Amino acid sequence: MDTNIAANTYSELFPKVISHAKEYGFVFQSSEIYDGLQAVYDYGQNGVELRQNLQQAWWLAMTRLHENIVGIEAAIFMHPTTWKASGHVDGFNDPMIDNKDSKKRYRADQLLEEQARQYELSGNTAKATALLAEMNELLKKDDLEGVRNLIMAEKILCPISKTANWTEVRQFNLMFSTKVGSVAEEATEVYLRPETAQGIFVNYLNVQKTGRMKIPFGIAQVGKAFRNEVVARQFIMRMREFTQMEMQFFIKPGTQKEWFEYWKNARRKWHQAIGTPDARLRFHVHDKLAHYADAAEDIEFEFPIGWKEVEGIHSRTDFDLSQHEQFSKKKLRYHDAQTGENFVPYVIETSIGLDRLFLLTLCQAYREEETTDEKGKSETRTYLSLHPALAPIKVAIFPLVKKEPLVEKARQIVDMLKLDMNVFYEESASIGKRYARQDVLGTPFCVTVDFDTIEKEGETVTLRYRDSMKQERVSIADLKEKLLYETSINRILEKLV
Ligand code: GAP
Repeated sequence: MDTNIAANTYSELFPKVISHAKEYGFVFQSSEIYDGLQAVYDYGQNGVELRQNLQQAWWLAMTRLHENIVGIEAAIFMHPTTWKASGHVDGFNDPMIDNKDSKKRYRADQLLEEQARQYELSGNTAKATALLAEMNELLKKDDLEGVRNLIMAEKILCPISKTANWTEVRQFNLMFSTKVGSVAEEATEVYLRPETAQGIFVNYLNVQKTGRMKIPFGIAQVGKAFRNEVVARQFIMRMREFTQMEMQFFIKPGTQKEWFEYWKNARRKWHQAIGTPDARLRFHVHDKLAHYADAAEDIEFEFPIGWKEVEGIHSRTDFDLSQHEQFSKKKLRYHDAQTGENFVPYVIETSIGLDRLFLLTLCQAYREEETTDEKGKSETRTYLSLHPALAPIKVAIFPLVKKEPLVEKARQIVDMLKLDMNVFYEESASIGKRYARQDVLGTPFCVTVDFDTIEKEGETVTLRYRDSMKQERVSIADLKEKLLYETSINRILEKLV
């Protein structure tokens, strides 16, 4: 594992990452001054930069590195029939159950999954597997009474009230709805999209025709999605408003197995390219397929709280386009000029949550290291070992002391770099403190202007590397080229070509 956090301390990392995110301007609770809104978060001054860099690494890998993938940006509101056709109005549900004593609501499947996890932890793997199999069987048949009976048979108690005083299990639709139109009686109910994918499907023909796209081809999109999650928890892992980065790849029916494998490999390689250790990635085959899929696997990351889904690779067959054909009464066929065939394309989808990817990135980059300060006192150094292309700030420029001509020279370096990268300038506090303030943000480089810069020949500065803390003298004339090279998104993209 390429992290210097020991395995036992890795599992204790989650609360540290959460408070780090808040303390250093990465993530804030939404409307915090009003005590926040559950499962809704805002990104701060450093979070927004990291998030945009992650988004760019995904977007360019999709659109720039594949000649046959283009991007779109569809509106969040869509014609309500979209969601009838896609199956979300009738089928996008979670089974929920309430405890009558604590008045707390739970996802019935998650209560059973937790019970299975307890069996697993106590070494009873067979019992855990059997329980999950029985639950999946009941959910597949939509047997909600059976699910409740299973919860009762397992004697599962509410963690708050410690009673088994459960209501029946009900399906809870996860879509948020609102009204469009100024006159109440004529207003139309519309949904906040629960996935960005449908914006791609309804534009399939527009893009194919206007772009003269030949199958196989893909359409990528980044945008907000909304789900009224029954249980929203674990920080930005499960949110009610989140961002998805999705790509629908349109293919000839019958070729879905090979393209499914292609995208599984391509996406795993991308995660490695942005710096995620492969040992903390794995594929998980879905036990219960979504209504649209004939195959589905998740890319899971080993978070400090366990393996969790980050991305889904789904073989969606021709389900969505066929449904939209039927509901819109518009043909959504592809005409193959070579064979003369007309067909509804099959689709392989890659779908990753940007917020979950953000959390993954913080978890895998967080480092605590024992060091000794100048006086020999031991202390813990905390830093984010982010890929330089992802780091919110690329370089910090410091005059060694707040005196001329050092300040003027440092300011000149800021001006030389600021059009090309995100630069931070600071002149107060000791140099050690200034380095430490950048380490916690993941700034990969710090540049110090000292008296040698001014007095000695060649105008050199000290360049300090975040992870190794090594320092070297670099000439100001070479600085821009070196930093541009090291912090370019191309250092990620070149691993994918
Ligand atoms: N279009 C397919 C689709 O939406 P999904 O597995 O429901 O598939 C894809 O979602 C990804 O979106 C997940 O792997 C996860 O990263 C992210 N995601 C889903 N629900 C989320 C939530 N409530 N909060 C944050 N991210 C979420």
